[in-house]
Amino acid sequence: MSRKFALVPAAGSGSRMGGECPKQYLPLAGRPLIFHTLDALCRCAEIEAVFVVLAPDDRHWGSYDWSPFGSRLKPLWCGGASRAESVSNGLAAMAGTAGDDDWVLVHDAARPCLSQAQLARLIREVGEDAVGGILAVPVADTLKRDGGDGRIGATVERSGLWQAQTPQMFRYRLLRRALEATRAVTDEAGAIEAQGHRPRLVAADITNLKVTYPQDLQLAAWILANRGET
Ligand code: C5P
Repeated sequence: MSRKFALVPAAGSGSRMGGECPKQYLPLAGRPLIFHTLDALCRCAEIEAVFVVLAPDDRHWGSYDWSPFGSRLKPLWCGGASRAESVSNGLAAMAGTAGDDDWVLVHDAARPCLSQAQLARLIREVGEDAVGGILAVPVADTLKRDGGDGRIGATVERSGLWQAQTPQMFRYRLLRRALEATRAVTDEAGAIEAQGHRPRLVAADITNLKVTYPQDLQLAAWILANRGET
């Protein structure tokens, strides 16, 4: 039986938020944002351990109390220059723990509103899959390509388009090899696709938002307070 691990890349600076504090440490509902992200993963009994990839010069992690998560939470000080590099470094550091066929759920530190229902659905639908899969939502809005002059250059056909979220769930060896072969991707599925595979799409919803801009924090706080999970 394959085991399951989570890997949270948290070595970004969050420059689109503005300000000095990396976005994973911004206050959200009385805790740093990443606390909620780690809490969602640690609460899932099927996940054996949660690895979090920090920047080697992270000055914030040590200021908070992570003891509520006990020994299941494992910080790794091996963040890289890009998300793909941080994930790849994290996978390398997990080598003594994760077996080739174990599952790794890679989840953005900046997605604090992952619900237990979304997580359970991903695990249920991907757990028997040969390739792996991701949470995603069908695109709802009409999409425009910027013409570069402040005007619309083109309308992009939206049918069949999905927005990729995380967690993205793949087997340890497949994911590690895929990210060693290509770093020019913005998510794990992109690396798996580059190997010729077709990861599964598991329908999620927009409450699993990635906190990117300052107003997203208020939305995230509202979701955490109103979704009825304890
Ligand atoms: O910047 P963006 O929101 O796309 O980052 C997605 C996730 O990747 C965040 O959790 C961020 O901390 C992480 N990241 C990282 N190492 C980097 C850049 C981003 O772990 N060099």
